[in-house]
Amino acid sequence: MKITSIRGKHMARIETMISRREFLAGVSGCLGAAGAILPVLSWATDESVAIPGKEGMIVRSHRFLDLEMPVEYANSFITPVEHFFVRNHMHEPSTLDVGEWRLSVGGEVEKPLTLTLPELTKTEQHAVTNTLECAGNGRAFAVPHVPGVQWQKGALGTARFSGPRLRDVLERAGVKSTGKHVMFRGLDEVPGKVPPFIRSIPIEKAMEGDTLVALHMNGAPLTKHHGLPARALVPGWIGAASCKWLTEIKVLDKEFDGNFMSPGYRMPNQAVKAGEAVKVEDTHPATALNVKSLIASPRDGANVKSRAIHIQGVAWAGEADIEKVEISTDSGATWQLAQLGKDRSHYAWRLWSYSWQAPKAGDYTITSRATDTAGRVQPDSVQWNPSGYLINAADQVKIHVQA
Ligand code: MTE
Repeated sequence: MKITSIRGKHMARIETMISRREFLAGVSGCLGAAGAILPVLSWATDESVAIPGKEGMIVRSHRFLDLEMPVEYANSFITPVEHFFVRNHMHEPSTLDVGEWRLSVGGEVEKPLTLTLPELTKTEQHAVTNTLECAGNGRAFAVPHVPGVQWQKGALGTARFSGPRLRDVLERAGVKSTGKHVMFRGLDEVPGKVPPFIRSIPIEKAMEGDTLVALHMNGAPLTKHHGLPARALVPGWIGAASCKWLTEIKVLDKEFDGNFMSPGYRMPNQAVKAGEAVKVEDTHPATALNVKSLIASPRDGANVKSRAIHIQGVAWAGEADIEKVEISTDSGATWQLAQLGKDRSHYAWRLWSYSWQAPKAGDYTITSRATDTAGRVQPDSVQWNPSGYLINAADQVKIHVQA
């Protein structure tokens, strides 16, 4: 596995490309003005170029951009866009004319629609603070190894997404009684014969008040890596549900059956032994996220000078809320309650902290374990499955306290 940090590399290139970010800020200024002429965006595809606006991220893949957040960035309620992970199955759109861009809404509806960005901007906007996590986050810890991007702990982030409710868009088109699932298609550039990234969600989730056609992230228009100009935001669910560069919404009478619904993104119906094959008929689509916590500080392998140690991190639970986070400083023999941070929003992680005085110099294993309002508790060890999805074992770091 090759892990490349881009921190400090190609700084000159980054600076010369900053103008593109300013340019995007300019686009945001244009969005309010209906009928304004919007520029054509042209995005570099040179893989040797550092990724502007994503400094310090761990590059898991260059071919299709996959960026992981270093765990120490899990230290704020809202993750800055610069530190928000990126997961692409294929190439991002290389050109996209925001002025020409349209969102079609069709399938099992009374009145198929084609919406422009100014029309979506004029629809009532709703904001949702959501922790987005890739289903494969933690896959690198599966033993035996499973194929796929070898995410460790940071394929996640929390952002404030806003835009029209998907429900309002669907109601404008008038969903027929035959409409049972809602399919999303993005504008990704599909290499060769790879199947396009198309997935669907059940109509019940689509009609929930917090499911969005998101246009903004942390108060600014979506950046290209996060789906400019519009993405689905399916809160509490695996990141794959939230289709980027959205161009088509189609209401279906049954679940979409393409590659990214089956065999992709499916969980075994029963727990399986590590290494065991599972037939697709014994699986179901992965939906809501698991209960999980992450230790942001101290870092794994830290050699700390002071015996007074501030342990902190985040905990999240998909569609449930965090009930408590427990910390063990003696390899899981005893547990103490961490203090939960005051910032809270359904679907968003909670910050937590625990102040600990190490009794003496030596080596320690610190573990964090979250429990949610649905009664789910993080397991002690990795729950292996063939794709390494929804892995949520209690988090652990090993540190050395100096004499
Ligand atoms: N949408 C499109 N069109 N193409 C993709 O490859 N990746 C999905 C989802 N939406 C993807 C997509 C996956 S697997 C995840 S985890 C999230 O986007 C990641 O969102 P982010 O890159 O904004 O963090």
